[in-house]
Amino acid sequence: MDDLVALCKRRGFIFQSNEIYGGLQGLYDYGPLGVELKNNLKQSWWKSIVYNRDDVEGLDTSILTHPDVLKYSGHQDTFTDPLVDCKSCGLRFREDQVPEQCKGEELTDPREFNLMFETNVGPVIDDSSAAYLRPETAQQIYINFKNVIDSTSRSLPFGIAQIGKSFRNEITPRNFIFRVREFEQMELEFFVTPGEDDAWHKKWVEERLVWWVNQGIPRDKLELLHVTGDDLAHYSKSTVDIMYQFPHGLEELEGIANRTDFDLGSHTKNQKDLNINAKVMENDSSNARLAVQNESKEWIVPYVIEPSAGVDRGVLAVINEAYTIEDLGDNKQRTLLKLKKHLSPIKAAVIPLKRNNDDLVRLAHDVKTSLQKYQIGRVVVENTGNIGKSYRKHDEIGTPLCITIDFDSLEKNTVTVRDRDSMEQKSLDINNVNQYFLDYFSDESE
Ligand code: GAP
Repeated sequence: MDDLVALCKRRGFIFQSNEIYGGLQGLYDYGPLGVELKNNLKQSWWKSIVYNRDDVEGLDTSILTHPDVLKYSGHQDTFTDPLVDCKSCGLRFREDQVPEQCKGEELTDPREFNLMFETNVGPVIDDSSAAYLRPETAQQIYINFKNVIDSTSRSLPFGIAQIGKSFRNEITPRNFIFRVREFEQMELEFFVTPGEDDAWHKKWVEERLVWWVNQGIPRDKLELLHVTGDDLAHYSKSTVDIMYQFPHGLEELEGIANRTDFDLGSHTKNQKDLNINAKVMENDSSNARLAVQNESKEWIVPYVIEPSAGVDRGVLAVINEAYTIEDLGDNKQRTLLKLKKHLSPIKAAVIPLKRNNDDLVRLAHDVKTSLQKYQIGRVVVENTGNIGKSYRKHDEIGTPLCITIDFDSLEKNTVTVRDRDSMEQKSLDINNVNQYFLDYFSDESE
């Protein structure tokens, strides 16, 4: 983990947030390369969940959330972790995360600590203006269920997808970007007919495994955990967690829950008329019926299958998996990020052999511009004048292709293309570079 954190800082993937004022714990900023990697991961998820299917719509909702949403969802009462204080050093910990040095000390009895961040909306600070930063993106999907149905005429089964920030005041944030207080989630709420829920749940677990493998995580590094007993959330009939061997241990990367009719049943009006199966709080505040009519024109509340993945945990997993130290013999090594091409922050670096040669530099910019126009991702001109150093840098940040412009480029119209993983170099006619680039990025499943 230390090596990854150092690489992320040195190369501009991830920084401690608010660092110049001492930092804020549990918050991180994504740097120039981190934002590209993170966007690529999110884009890959959106493509697989929304674009490549015909049964999912997208959504982007507000982060500030009405307290009633989180009252009826159960978050106000149950979204808590047990908190203890160490009487010796005065620090507070989650009960199951007391550090070694405090384990022998006297601890207070655990008390429940709600993880939601509360704030106020508008110029008056009182109970009537209270709101929360959402602790998951899912709730805003449920409360927009009727809006989406009415505007798209969808029928079951169909899903609503959202990517966005969530906030949890974790008692002990830890392990770099694994457990943080502000993070992003990629959540799909997939609405199905009751009775078809178990089959859809199984299907989504399989789909999500395939997607993670396509992001570069080998199948044998992923495990399925069938959550049981007290670990099962109050809304869940059954949850399968996709676990990944992170640098600090085997931990949850994504959870796939069968949330039954709990969520729509909690937020709907006319609860009594709807034969809701889940145990929900009585709701007299909602003004929307969150139900659909079946073929017999009876109103039913759909069940929800929810694949919910953390973007930041995904970024950590793909970087960890890609991080490679390769032995080159003669006591030489190179560090490289073997990221899948679609995730690489920079797709190609165009490198003029000499930084002060106007003709070489101009040609490098021309090549960059013509590759950039395909919008496959970021292409840069790397004008350091040091080819060896440029190759090392781009290996370390996961750039799959380096294209070198030398004097042959001016005289014979050729460039040298170097592959990150094999280090193979080939000479290409400059007129064929665009097609080579397009072919190279078209042969990978995302
Ligand atoms: N809507 C369901 C839900 O939010 P969750 O298991 O609490 O379920 C889903 O969260 C995913 O969000 C987790 O699998 C994890 O990847 C990510 N996640 C949750 N808490 C996180 C935190 N404090 N820091 C980073 N990622 C987190």
